[in-house]
Amino acid sequence: MRKRYPVFGLVLIFLGGAGLLLLSAGGGWEPDLGWAPGMMGPGMAGRWFTGWYPKTRYASNGERIYYTGVSERTGPLPARGGPMWIGMRGGGCVACHGVEGRGGVPVMMGGAIPSDIRYEALTKEEHREDEKTREHPPYTDPLIKRAITEGIDPAGNPLDWTMPRWQMSPDDAEDLVAFLKTLK
Ligand code: HEC
Repeated sequence: MRKRYPVFGLVLIFLGGAGLLLLSAGGGWEPDLGWAPGMMGPGMAGRWFTGWYPKTRYASNGERIYYTGVSERTGPLPARGGPMWIGMRGGGCVACHGVEGRGGVPVMMGGAIPSDIRYEALTKEEHREDEKTREHPPYTDPLIKRAITEGIDPAGNPLDWTMPRWQMSPDDAEDLVAFLKTLK
């Protein structure tokens, strides 16, 4: 019996390795986001496990998209980029930017910290309140829609690929921006 333990251990190591390979093989994502080992903390685990919100009723289409990534009009919204888990399990803006839209908490396998996307914060002249928020010229409604769908900030710079590029109709983008205006 005793002789078997080392073999058992090897099998476990092998399985673990295979699991890691599978996870990192994710595939299909634009530039390599990689694992950011330094970012694996308890906060992130919390965000990972509470990513699904027990919410089933939405006051508007914009709120639905924010929470679920699903439009009343066209169903699940396709997105390019983002960490592989967003493609696997779906989800909306809330998974990264949080219920209040304040961002600031690193996300699993993310290369950048999600921004504060409350409308006020985005359109403010002086956006940078603290070290956590990114700096950029003020957003306007069309610029916010461009950031969401094309991943470009007001200065014309590409956003980090942790932020997915969402495909949605102009009407959905309008609804979503209207919802961002309600985040205080
Ligand atoms: C997988 C995580 C993730 C999801 C989901 C996500 N975002 Fe982001 N978002 C980010 C990150 C990270 C940034 C910061 C990118 C950077 O710093 O370059 C960002 C940036 C942004 C910005 C630009 C803000 C700025 O300061 O320039 C807007 C606007 C935005 N997100 C809106 C949304 C909306 C609306 C949704 C839902 C449709 C959404 N995001 C879903 C991670 C995410």
